[in-house]
Amino acid sequence: MHTAIIGLGNIGARLAKNLTVGGMQVIIADRTPAKATTLAAELGNKAEVMTVEDAMKKADAIILAIYFDAEKQLIAESSSLLQGKIVVDPSNPIGPDGKGGFKKIIPIEQSSGQIIASLLPAGARFVKAFGTLTAESLGTAANRTPDRAVLFYATDDEAAGAVVAKLIEASGYAAMRVGGVAQSIRIEVGGDLHEMGGLGKTVSAKEASARL
Ligand SMILES: NC(=O)c1ccc[n+]([C@@H]2O[C@H](COP(=O)([O-])OP(=O)(O)OC[C@H]3O[C@@H](n4cnc5c(N)ncnc54)[C@H](OP(=O)(O)O)[C@@H]3O)[C@@H](O)[C@H]2O)c1
Repeated sequence: MHTAIIGLGNIGARLAKNLTVGGMQVIIADRTPAKATTLAAELGNKAEVMTVEDAMKKADAIILAIYFDAEKQLIAESSSLLQGKIVVDPSNPIGPDGKGGFKKIIPIEQSSGQIIASLLPAGARFVKAFGTLTAESLGTAANRTPDRAVLFYATDDEAAGAVVAKLIEASGYAAMRVGGVAQSIRIEVGGDLHEMGGLGKTVSAKEASARL
């Protein structure tokens, strides 16, 4: 099983670190190749640098750690490469509000998860995950003891979900499925299970179960 992280900014780089600390081998790619080579030097032999196209070709699971609009564009450009792949979407559909904060950039009742899932080619296997915590929390709460913090995921494809649950666990978290793709909205910014939404914190499995 090959896992690729595409986009090596706040979330992608953090995720690459968490996964490699957890013993996983990862493929890393960014449209700015220097970001990948710099990160690889930090991660050692657990990370393989590739172009975005080669990463998509080789990986079985592809984490698109890029902003929602860029993700839509990349999917449109790379549709044929995503057929049959597990596509993991951490995006939150937010943009600057002009006052130094952020606002939702899609209608309030919609989720980026449902939109991204609808844009994937037939056969691609969508999982919403890794966007529930800020990049900072994703670092500090990994491998928390004694109660591991939870990362939620949403998917209609249980087998793909099981693969992503293993990635979540390798990255230092307890995995918890919130439901199908329609439930993505609950784990995106503004959702009741998002750290910056209703929860306001990282939660243990016991606390998370009580909220589901
Ligand atoms: N930051 C957070 O705390 C947080 C929390 C939860 C979820 N998320 C979500 O996670 C995603 C990534 O956020 P981020 O904060 O990590 O963003 P970021 O720091 O801006 O990093 C995105 C990275 O992806 C690269 N990139 C952009 N388009 C690309 C493409 N087509 N192919 C390859 N690489 C590309 C960017 O390169 P350039 O520098 O050249 O643009 C940048 O290195 C977003 O959808 C966001 O909503 C973020």
